[in-house]
Amino acid sequence: MQRKPQLVLVLGWLMALAAQTGRLPAQGGDFRSTQTEARVDALLAQMTLEEKVGQLNQLSTGSLSGPKQVVDNGDELIRKGWVGGILNAVTAQETNIFQKEAIGGSRLHIPILFGLDVIHGFRTLFPIPLGLSASWDPDLAEQTARYAAQEASSQGVRWTFSPMVDIARDPRWGRIAEGAGEDPYLGSAFARAYVRGYQGLRLDDPASIVACAKHFVGYGAVEGGRDYNSTEISERTLRGVYLPPFHAAVEEGAGTLMSAFNAINGVPSSANAFTLTQVLRKEWNFRGFVDSDWTAVREVMVHGIADDARTAALKCFNAGVDMDMESNIFLNNIAELVRAGRVPASRLDEAVRGILRVKFALGLFEHPYVVEPAASGLAATPAGDALARRAAEESFVLLENRMVGDGPLLPLAAGPGRKIALIGPLADSATDMLGSWSCQAVSGDMVTLRSALSKRASSGGMPLSFARGTDVSGTTDSGFPEAVAAAMGADVVVMALGESGRSSGEASSRAHLNLPGNQEKLLEAIVATGKPVVLVVFSGRPLSIAWASAHVPAIIMAWFPGMQAGPALVRTLFGEAEPAGRLTVSIPRTVGQVPIYYNHLNTGRPRVDPIGMGSDKPDPYYVTGYIDEANTPLYPFGYGLSYTSFSFSPVEVSAASVSASAINKGESQLTVSADVRNTGSREGTETAQLYIRLRGTSVARPVRELKGFQRVHLAPGESRHLEFRLARDELAFWNADMKDVAEPGSLYVWVASDSTQGTPAKVELTE
Ligand code: BGC
Repeated sequence: MQRKPQLVLVLGWLMALAAQTGRLPAQGGDFRSTQTEARVDALLAQMTLEEKVGQLNQLSTGSLSGPKQVVDNGDELIRKGWVGGILNAVTAQETNIFQKEAIGGSRLHIPILFGLDVIHGFRTLFPIPLGLSASWDPDLAEQTARYAAQEASSQGVRWTFSPMVDIARDPRWGRIAEGAGEDPYLGSAFARAYVRGYQGLRLDDPASIVACAKHFVGYGAVEGGRDYNSTEISERTLRGVYLPPFHAAVEEGAGTLMSAFNAINGVPSSANAFTLTQVLRKEWNFRGFVDSDWTAVREVMVHGIADDARTAALKCFNAGVDMDMESNIFLNNIAELVRAGRVPASRLDEAVRGILRVKFALGLFEHPYVVEPAASGLAATPAGDALARRAAEESFVLLENRMVGDGPLLPLAAGPGRKIALIGPLADSATDMLGSWSCQAVSGDMVTLRSALSKRASSGGMPLSFARGTDVSGTTDSGFPEAVAAAMGADVVVMALGESGRSSGEASSRAHLNLPGNQEKLLEAIVATGKPVVLVVFSGRPLSIAWASAHVPAIIMAWFPGMQAGPALVRTLFGEAEPAGRLTVSIPRTVGQVPIYYNHLNTGRPRVDPIGMGSDKPDPYYVTGYIDEANTPLYPFGYGLSYTSFSFSPVEVSAASVSASAINKGESQLTVSADVRNTGSREGTETAQLYIRLRGTSVARPVRELKGFQRVHLAPGESRHLEFRLARDELAFWNADMKDVAEPGSLYVWVASDSTQGTPAKVELTE
């Protein structure tokens, strides 16, 4: 008896703590709570079959502006209660108009859920997700997501089709820009961070929006990098590589997932009962709902697994898709399929429950409308600018910084009279800085490199000349002479080259990974002047810049940095900000190396084995690889330079051996430690990366796998002792029996600055 109050207190404290950390939203704002379930039960009991099916229907406004462009009879559908969700309504006026029709006009007054692709900001634009992931700073991603949620929700948009958590190992695929790169561990950390940021501590906070982890699943593995293509993924690779970030998002409380376009081993993702029901619902106990990707339900007919819309509806719905984006197929078929006994009534209830849970949890029934702002609408704010600038600065990866004269070229020496030439088609292109999915951001808010550098140059008495040189996909050299003349007259040249903002993202796969058009030729012409060149690469994907890498002394990978591109770059160029980003994707030397990723298998004939476990006498010829190119990437996963330098002490482990079964039972774990030291003369931030390799296991494991990382800011000469934990989550893998367990064998552990560095410590994993 005495223990009860204590237990209640402890439970209360745990709940409060969980609510604070966002892990377990408090009752009212939680779609998994009993309170929400009671409300869902009550409403479901009042719904007709048609009204239930209506909730499964999601329509798009016809364009990104102008209200009321739903399908011809959209108003009528809304009044009948046959529209559960609308996408692409972007202003408070628009969402309110539709909402009034639903609340005022329909029998049960069920509010509409408005969704939008809020991918890297709403009005305030942050770096593209691939760029932001290079910060290796999930907390920063969480802050940007929170900011975007506040802006979007103010317009009635309470649902974002983000984060994209697709693992991408192929930079030809344009959508690599939208995710966190090639690694499932890092991808999972970012997946969690975005969900926390969007959904906040409580979903019923009017500034929270529900997340949608997409595209479920395997979309990043499309054949040849061609968007929408097919995938062949073994169950082990699916579970070990592609599913973990989705699982992380679901564990973090993501309310929705989006089913993908691609077929997995012949079965379209949007009709895939294995992924949508077995894994998502049965194994992960997902309680939210699954939205199809745009017309993905209709497309299963094109894939060839349904001859008519009715069969498409049957297959997708029974497999586990709950809401139909834009196909109009569920609306027209599910009621009849239920009556015919082809769709169980319980399946319909399950789907409607998921949708209603999310709507209740968001507080939409209590607060369906938003306050309409003044005609001027949402504006950029100083706080948003500051966050956008910091996010951009943290996303930059310094690829090269060679000595020019007495020291490295960057940071640039400043001083009155120092002449700078700025050259390239991306130096002053506000539209390209938007990248893909720019939502309500306006190009007028994008501060370009040229505009920020002009400001800095004029305040610092540094003459600045500018020449575009060529276009992004330029074919004529007519602008070269002006550019060469500008370079000749300068002390240092900054070049802004890369892709257009629309060359990555959806339907933007590339067969080539070089700088488009004649940009490399322009670069060669400028380097030939002998002037020191800093190359800033804007791009939504890794580009094969082997020539630049060999000939240009300083290279910054800037991705698409968002609205504060210019100020962030200028501060970095002059050393007020440090480039602390690290690659989250391998940069290939040439497109022929693709797919290329650090966590590959060793094979029986590796060219080089990082722990010397190749054949006894490595044969120079009969090894895996190319006869005309190296196997290694131009820049590896985890790589990035700093304005200072760091060293790592030998890695230490808490035990020389540990029992695999104790690890599996959660009774044992390892502590891994190393000291990182700033060996340079400037303060700086290093990202210590923990990698493992397992050998002697029932299936071959990758040559390295990321299992931890820590960012540390160090003063010159300062060192920090870092500790990492290796337990079941880090050591288990899907073994030969398809069990997710740690196995006996050897474990190698590195703590290093990237995926190619360091010397491992060895641990025996005993029975
Ligand atoms: C994309 C999704 C997006 C949806 C809605 C689709 O074409 O694949 O990522 O969320 O459109 O705009």
